[in-house]
Amino acid sequence: MDTAGKDFPYRMAFYFIVASSVWNFFGAGVIGFFINLPVISYFESGTYLTVAHAHGAMFGAFGFLAMGMAVYILRITTRPEQWSERRLTWSFWLCNVGIALMLFLSLLPVGFLQLEVAFTEGYAASRSLEFYSGNLIQTLFWLRMPGDTLLILGAIVFAGDILTKLLFQRKATAEETSRHIIADRIVGEGVGEPDSDDD
Ligand code: HEM
Repeated sequence: MDTAGKDFPYRMAFYFIVASSVWNFFGAGVIGFFINLPVISYFESGTYLTVAHAHGAMFGAFGFLAMGMAVYILRITTRPEQWSERRLTWSFWLCNVGIALMLFLSLLPVGFLQLEVAFTEGYAASRSLEFYSGNLIQTLFWLRMPGDTLLILGAIVFAGDILTKLLFQRKATAEETSRHIIADRIVGEGVGEPDSDDD
């Protein structure tokens, strides 16, 4: 990417895949291993720490990976002169900032407060109606709104971009069709070429 600079055709696909790695590290790795510690796991099972891990790992690792793969395919199938990264860049940042706000403003704080109550007053107290209706917890629940809103917007912008680009699909040439361009790029030249008569 360094040498190709801005002309690197799969830049946005690469960005989404890097985001998948980062969230895989944090959502699955850091939070997953944290709640996996027996002393935590025994007390936190099914609390908001699980919710934070589930969102960070599931959307973070697999959501961004799926988006990256979709962008990669779009780049191949869209007419090069119609290719634009503007909406995808917006979607990328909306989704990343959205999930970060969701985790750090709401899910993790609620999870840690819940863990403290589970340690000091017992598991039942940490999941009681009384705990959930406390002022601080209610405020933290409302603080999900900014992150969730950005994430939803990111998903809408991404979907809009895919639909727009579907209007600008490039037609495969006869030569490409016979040579299976995608398979050639992945497996190497020569895949799909008709067998010669000498065989
Ligand atoms: C990309 C990889 C991962 C994904 C997509 C993922 C996803 C999930 C989801 C969706 C849940 C919630 C299940 C439920 O609510 O019933 C969960 C729970 C859990 N995960 Fe992961 N996870 C991943 C990696 C990991 C790793 C690496 C660890 C730790 C080594 C881990 C430890 C746990 C634990 C301990 C729970 C149970 C929490 C509880 O008792 O409530 N996960 N995971």
